Amino acid sequence: MKFFADTADVAELRSLAGTGLMDGVTTNPSLIAKSGRKMSEVIAEICSITDGPVSAEVTATDHETMLKEGRYLRAIAKNVAVKVPLTEAGLRTCKVLSDEGTPVNVTLCFSANQALLAAKAGAAFISPFVGRLDDIGYDGMELIADVVQIYDNYNFRTEVLVASIRHPVHVLQAAKLGAHVGTMPPSVIRAMMKHPLTDKGLEAFLADWAKTGQSIL
Ligand code: G3P
Repeated sequence: MKFFADTADVAELRSLAGTGLMDGVTTNPSLIAKSGRKMSEVIAEICSITDGPVSAEVTATDHETMLKEGRYLRAIAKNVAVKVPLTEAGLRTCKVLSDEGTPVNVTLCFSANQALLAAKAGAAFISPFVGRLDDIGYDGMELIADVVQIYDNYNFRTEVLVASIRHPVHVLQAAKLGAHVGTMPPSVIRAMMKHPLTDKGLEAFLADWAKTGQSIL
């Protein structure tokens, strides 16, 4: 399972990149706004932090302008994946850009029918938003199960990129379902590392080691 960091905070990204656990990055217009920086500059910097895919989202809503924006974003760096919303214009743009060899991440997916259309449009990634479905009382992971099954049925190459992840249980559930990628705030990846028994056990090991008076080096 690949782990993408869902942030445009370059300080957080540099810190996480040092763990070797970050396989790519996703951004969206809200995350770019939160960074307070010019989009092209922050995307270029993020692309220098990771060799993995960096999703940069168009903001137009019509196909012609989406296409221009997508080609502009793709030109920023070789590892830019262009993000488009799951609308008719977004799917049209996905098809054209994918046919040109540009990886496209189709985002704001909330149904299996939408995911089926994104795969037919040649998407490299589909981003079903599990957290936002959970937030309104739906079962986000049920969508992931449906999408993984449908993609397996037809051997689609589109990768299921689970998005809107809120906590480590979302990651665990997505991994058990066979999703290809999870994109999440760096805090979720760090939360996955933690267990109280690990901390307790390490403390006990080191206390016993200290009693030996030895040092390895
Ligand atoms: O960036 C795409 C997605 O992960 C954002 O989800 O619900 O945390 O805004 P959310």
